[in-house]
Amino acid sequence: TYKLAIAGGGSTYTPGIVRSLMDRLEDLPLSELRFYDIDGERQSKVVIAAKAVISEYTDRINIVETTDPQVAFDDVDFVFAQMRVGKYAMRELDEKIPLSHNVVGQETCGPGGLAYGLRTIFPMVELIDFVEKYAKPSCWIVNYSNPASIVAEGVRKLRPHARVINICDMPVATMRNMSAILGVEREELEVDYFGLNHFGWFTKVKVDGVDRLPELREHIYQYGLLTEDVSKIDYRHADSSWIKTFKNIKLIMDYFPDYIPNPYLQYYFFPDYIVETSNKEYTRANEVMDGREKSLFETVKNYEETGVLADEFHVGVHGIFIVDVTVSLAKNLAKRYLVMVENNGTIPNLPANAMVEVPCLITSKGPVPEYVGEIPYFHQAMIEQQLASEKILVEAITEGSYEKALQAFTLNKTFPSARVAKAVLDDLIEANKEYWPTL
Ligand code: G6P
Ligand code: MN
Repeated sequence: TYKLAIAGGGSTYTPGIVRSLMDRLEDLPLSELRFYDIDGERQSKVVIAAKAVISEYTDRINIVETTDPQVAFDDVDFVFAQMRVGKYAMRELDEKIPLSHNVVGQETCGPGGLAYGLRTIFPMVELIDFVEKYAKPSCWIVNYSNPASIVAEGVRKLRPHARVINICDMPVATMRNMSAILGVEREELEVDYFGLNHFGWFTKVKVDGVDRLPELREHIYQYGLLTEDVSKIDYRHADSSWIKTFKNIKLIMDYFPDYIPNPYLQYYFFPDYIVETSNKEYTRANEVMDGREKSLFETVKNYEETGVLADEFHVGVHGIFIVDVTVSLAKNLAKRYLVMVENNGTIPNLPANAMVEVPCLITSKGPVPEYVGEIPYFHQAMIEQQLASEKILVEAITEGSYEKALQAFTLNKTFPSARVAKAVLDDLIEANKEYWPTL
């Protein structure tokens, strides 16, 4: 049996992840589940919901709730990391400040992602150091913390030997939509894919060895990456803003008839259109705060008053995927999943030290990438520009260099000019004073 800690226990995702863990107790038997967060008050509410979920399955798991890293990580086998530095209040600023300059306002793409990256790298490194100090030497950190691409680069650079696997649920969520369109199970899909996190392309979507990508493209041209019955897609992506995101993929494909883009590429291909169709006063952060956040805390309050848990906290691909990866790690199953890994020749025409998102076999020694081969010059060029933006950003924070931060912003395709990049950066520095002491 294993001891597992969830760092960022106060996240609204926690109850869903816990249900996924409970569904998989046979594959990943747990003796202890620890919840760790720097905000103990918030976490204690979420843990009430998590405990209610656990009680449906078992009373044999020891549950620990703590704000002390030693208590959290002492002797654990696995850590799930999902920190959100600055919480939704800072996400709101990450989205609204750029929009006030007519630049994309998004949590992980463009200036919002760069700002979030600057906040997250040092706390992530701190977490890694705690885990190294207290956990079993064999412990793996399975990391969802965003912006995953920048976090992966920061970890590669600052803690190159850390046992961290950086993962993202966007590819699997996209595959869930693909499988609904094709009328098959998600597990039946075998995809080829290359890129950086939130910046990549599906190049093959095989079912029983047959590439169904052309058929999917035909569907997307008409309906986007959606089915008529939205209940078939992941519950978390049934919000109107996500529906819009999946529809917009069609836009990219109208212009570039190759592959199937990760939905996040729309922010780089069509930043002007995205800004035109954004509500500058009410962004995704507001939707999440008024929706997912509010409803979780209301559910908990209600549960405490009535003993009835109104929400069952369904398991979506987000919860399923992190447990899938962990089971493959724990049991050395060598299952094939898309995760982030150091390139090292997997894509020969990208730098060896790029953190790429590609198919990997997940073994107990970590992810082993499958050889991808050379990618077309256009995609290489787009990726190189984004990669440079992210790598220089990590240098900016570690060196405390304003100049490099401005370079990173200027290189990001979401900006129309260096002048606008500087204006947005300066406003973000003001808003992040507390988080970026070095800039
Ligand atoms: C996807 C991405 C995550 C991102 C999330 C935001 O799942 O892969 O990286 O954090 O969407 O979703 P939200 O519902 O918070 O806007
Ligand atoms: Mn992601």
